[in-house]
Amino acid sequence: MSRIQGILSQLYNENYIPKYDMIYLLENLHEGSREQLFDCARKIRSKYYENKVFMRGLIEFSNICSRNCIYCGIRAASENVDRYRLSKDEILSCCKEGYELGYRTFVLQSGEDRWYTASKVADLVSSIKELFPDVAVTLSLGERSYEEYKLWYEAGADRYLLRHETASRNLYEKLHPDGDFDNRRQCLYNLREIGYQVGAGFMVGLPGQSHYDLVEDLYFLKELKPHMIGIGPFIPANSTPLAKEKAGRVEDVLVMLALTRLMIPESLLPATTAMGTLDPRGREKALMAGANVVMPNLSPIATKSKYQLYDNKICTGDESAHCRMCIEKRINSTGMKVDMGRGDSLIA
Ligand code: 5AD
Ligand code: FES
Repeated sequence: MSRIQGILSQLYNENYIPKYDMIYLLENLHEGSREQLFDCARKIRSKYYENKVFMRGLIEFSNICSRNCIYCGIRAASENVDRYRLSKDEILSCCKEGYELGYRTFVLQSGEDRWYTASKVADLVSSIKELFPDVAVTLSLGERSYEEYKLWYEAGADRYLLRHETASRNLYEKLHPDGDFDNRRQCLYNLREIGYQVGAGFMVGLPGQSHYDLVEDLYFLKELKPHMIGIGPFIPANSTPLAKEKAGRVEDVLVMLALTRLMIPESLLPATTAMGTLDPRGREKALMAGANVVMPNLSPIATKSKYQLYDNKICTGDESAHCRMCIEKRINSTGMKVDMGRGDSLIA
């Protein structure tokens, strides 16, 4: 048995390998062993979640942001962004449309927009829960205080997505001129302590990112054990400091997805829109490498094109009902099946 084979079988059987083996794997995977890696990831995914793909309806309710992450298209300093903020009624009508399309979980995402005060968000969450008692509500509004997170949890929020972006302090600091590496991690631990199902995650192919940085992501996640892990390629966004950089590679994201599935087997892993943006079959490939969630966009058609975290984002001209059907066909093409339930993680 070659060293790669040995490492893969240990990863498959024990869901853990030492860091030096992980580095060896990343440096030495070739086409054949990559397929084996994806095969292992699919088997583990099926063992825990069968062939189900969970659907989450994404509502991008504000593209106003006070931060300046240098990769992000809606950073405060981007002047050519048409800024918008949906009202409570507009958000509720997206939920209604989503509910009628069969969604039982909504993800409310925005830039770091303080106009949405703690009490406004709490009111929004409790209204959604009153109108649709059987849905799971997920928030993704960035870094806030322990007290704010707690208030929203008490108002009925079930989950919170906050990607850690990169587990390498050095890289994190370069990408986030106004960010604090320790605070971001603290937010994730706070969310977990409060009782949320937590989503972390990272980008692949960031300028200056090495295999060592990506290995840090895997071991950080192994320790944090989030319920959900969002992994996508970096894609340059116009009028940001990284506009002229190269995008991450779909193949590299697939490898990181599969390794994450093997290291944290019970996690929920979305096949991200960014994957579909770089490759027309990017989301299908992600499902074939161990992913099991998709997050179709439920934002109003008038604002879909304004929430551009990166260039050429797909689906911005499509009705929510169109995406619902389109994605189902794509899922079926991989041999997997749509599950419209709440899709709770198996992680306690
Ligand atoms: N390319 C890829 N992903 C991006 N995100 C933000 N900007 C980009 C970009 N240019 C991701 C971040 C963020 C999530 C909502 O979108 O990881 O957490
Ligand atoms: Fe939106 Fe295919 S998922 S058009």
